[in-house]
Amino acid sequence: QQALRIAPSILSADFARLGEEVRAIDTAGADYIHVDVMDGHFVPNLTIGPMVVKALRPWSAKPFDVHLMIAPVDPYVAAFAEAGADILTVHPEAGPHLHRTIQLIKAQGKKAGVSLNPATPVEVVDPILDELDLVLVMSVNPGFGGQSFLSSALRKIEALRARIDATGRTIDLEVDGGITVETARACRDAGADLLVAGTSSFAGGPEAYAGNLRRLRGED
Ligand code: DX5
Ligand code: ZN
Repeated sequence: QQALRIAPSILSADFARLGEEVRAIDTAGADYIHVDVMDGHFVPNLTIGPMVVKALRPWSAKPFDVHLMIAPVDPYVAAFAEAGADILTVHPEAGPHLHRTIQLIKAQGKKAGVSLNPATPVEVVDPILDELDLVLVMSVNPGFGGQSFLSSALRKIEALRARIDATGRTIDLEVDGGITVETARACRDAGADLLVAGTSSFAGGPEAYAGNLRRLRGED
């Protein structure tokens, strides 16, 4: 099995110093920078738009893993791509034609992901798995950091691991929400290779970041 990679969610960073926070978590060993985009409509919170993604781009060379919790999503794909996103992940419920949305992301030359809410079945990705670069299992209902991990996610991770392995392609299997040292281990054992962590990455301020990421990977 691949080493566990961590995508810290900047939702839990200090928004008054966001550029420095992105640089600090990069230096601490982040694999991806996870950016949670919320529209106050698809999910009950408002966060970051393409202007902020563009402003943060010079602060890290790591892939920007942009999680779009917005509906409709298609009108904003180009803006986030141009702002510097490397991976664009969308929810199937965010538009009537998921495959068209994936094609839009690919047409921008970006990697495409699909995110599955707790009540969204894994079968949704079956017809399009060959075109995806990432599948994101939500282990909380999207909208806020700091929620508790829903263990129903583990069965979905196992099911998706088998599906992804069957493709023979490299597809990130990412989990988002309530990741702690304990739930990280459970996700890895279920077959995940990439974990989003907000609260547990940014706990304790910049001095703690490298240790936080090592512990999440199970390294100490
Ligand atoms: C939730 C977001 C998550 C969130 C995770 O809607 O998609 O990325 O920031 O936060 P923690 O790790 O605190 O659960
Ligand atoms: Zn997220």
